[in-house]
Amino acid sequence: MDGFSENVYVLDHPLITHKISILRDKRTGTNEFRQLVEEIAMLMGFVALSDLPMKSVEVETPIEKTETRVIAGRKLAVVPILRAGLGMVSGLTALVPSAKIGHIGLYRDEKTHKPVEYFCKLPNPIEERTIVVCDPMLATGGSGIDAITQIKRHGGRKIKFVCIIAAPEGIKALSLAHPDVQIYVGNLDRCLNENAYICPGLGDAGDRIFGTK
Ligand code: PRP
Ligand code: URA
Repeated sequence: MDGFSENVYVLDHPLITHKISILRDKRTGTNEFRQLVEEIAMLMGFVALSDLPMKSVEVETPIEKTETRVIAGRKLAVVPILRAGLGMVSGLTALVPSAKIGHIGLYRDEKTHKPVEYFCKLPNPIEERTIVVCDPMLATGGSGIDAITQIKRHGGRKIKFVCIIAAPEGIKALSLAHPDVQIYVGNLDRCLNENAYICPGLGDAGDRIFGTK
């Protein structure tokens, strides 16, 4: 798809794209921005979790007994990359309320644009869980790559990365560094600028979610 590896899914869904268009608008305030990030995360999670393993169970309807299916085990972890990824957690856990939540703290150095780690706390054990790493922005890919490297060091294996907007540079870097990871992208943007911001993008996702500057 789009010349990327087969593990890259650019969703480009009308509902998602419509909401992302409102996020992009610089006039959109913090309250609406936060609400939309949550809604987009839920819509994207719905797609990203469509291959969750299932098992058969028997239930008795008011009419008869029947064989049906439920999600096998309670084995999901949601891992936001701080800060901006936090805005996506409520949307994803609304879909799977029993999910455990880990946190990875990273910020991009303003000059080098390289990620600097400051926190990592993950559910333990993590080996058997499907892990959904979330961050609204995939720019150079440095933060996503580092976060997933950390998760793998802790034993994580089944990893999905969900981002709202990505630059081609970030998708390529992430899928090269972690070819086993499924990458779900809401909208694919044009390129990075000289400050490694996504164009046209939406600006600084963390600042817009938390009302900081
Ligand atoms: C933003 C964003 C990603 C990262 C993406 O975080 O939320 O984590 O940049 O850029 P990359 O793909 O080039 O690494 P930022 O560093 O601004 O931290 P914040 O969320 O705390 O504001
Ligand atoms: N981080 C953001 O929040 N926005 C960008 O465009 C790039 C990195």
